[in-house]
Amino acid sequence: LEEKVFGMSKREKDIRELADFMKSDKCRRVVLMLGAGVSTSAGIPDFRSPKTGLYSNLARLNLPHPEAVFEISFFRWNPVPFYTLAAELYPGNFRPTPTHTFVKLLHQHNLLHMCFTQNIDTLERQAGVPAHKIIEAHGSFATQRCIQCKSPFPDDEMREIVLSDRPEGEEVRIPRCKRRECGGLVKPDIVFFGESLPANFIRNIPIIGEADLVIIIGTSLTVQPFASLAGMPDERRCRRALINMERVYDLGRRPGDAVLLGECDAIVRELCEALGWGEELEREWAAT
Ligand code: APR
Repeated sequence: LEEKVFGMSKREKDIRELADFMKSDKCRRVVLMLGAGVSTSAGIPDFRSPKTGLYSNLARLNLPHPEAVFEISFFRWNPVPFYTLAAELYPGNFRPTPTHTFVKLLHQHNLLHMCFTQNIDTLERQAGVPAHKIIEAHGSFATQRCIQCKSPFPDDEMREIVLSDRPEGEEVRIPRCKRRECGGLVKPDIVFFGESLPANFIRNIPIIGEADLVIIIGTSLTVQPFASLAGMPDERRCRRALINMERVYDLGRRPGDAVLLGECDAIVRELCEALGWGEELEREWAAT
């Protein structure tokens, strides 16, 4: 039973305190760090949650180990498991969550300095967050190219191939390079294990040091170098807030840390209420 302090639970106190900081003139630049937990309520499984996470549901793909589906060496050898999974993850079938809309509200209230996301689902863009405020650290499904000659592959053709219905049991179609002399495998511009990270991410990592507040939402912070950004801000001039089902990394270690455990959409709704953005959040989210 949460002890009631001045009629408020600890959680309510933490949320009010965070909202008051966000409304103060000490908080001008908010940097977000997002992970797959932000998109689970949109119907996209995360990777590591027990039972529901992607990595515990790939048995049907006969992989040597779950992450192989996103390993470049395995993909070169056998692209079928990835393209089987791609049909289930491909953008266009999913709607942004209230948490994605919260990112857009931060921008509309001139607080969003940058949104670093590990997600490949492009839901931040779909929620209306401007492209120049999004850094997709692990790439995205938005574009694709040949892994041999790097020639871009047409978006509409890719969608048609990935989402084409096929009779039960028939193998997935694999997009191949349009250049006849090449014929290499085509892969979406998502970063596979064994590939280098987008230059746009590496180049912009120092932005995390410009934040007055870093809000980390829906990530286990297990994949480097993304996870290390959480420890970069100088604790004398930047606060951190975790919105997640579970404690991760070193969040909670610093005196200024806010650790808000639970379902991100519910916590975001409480935070928006405390910010006076409750109505706006529902209206903007309903319009996505
Ligand atoms: N609300 C709050 N937290 C949630 C929710 C939710 N609705 N759903 C899941 N979570 C939490 C989980 O408890 C977990 O801590 O989100 C986190 C998701 O962690 P992962 O599944 O590891 O996803 P992520 O951290 O984004 O993975 C990082 O791993 O495989 C690579 O490249 C892939 O970008 C991915 C990277």
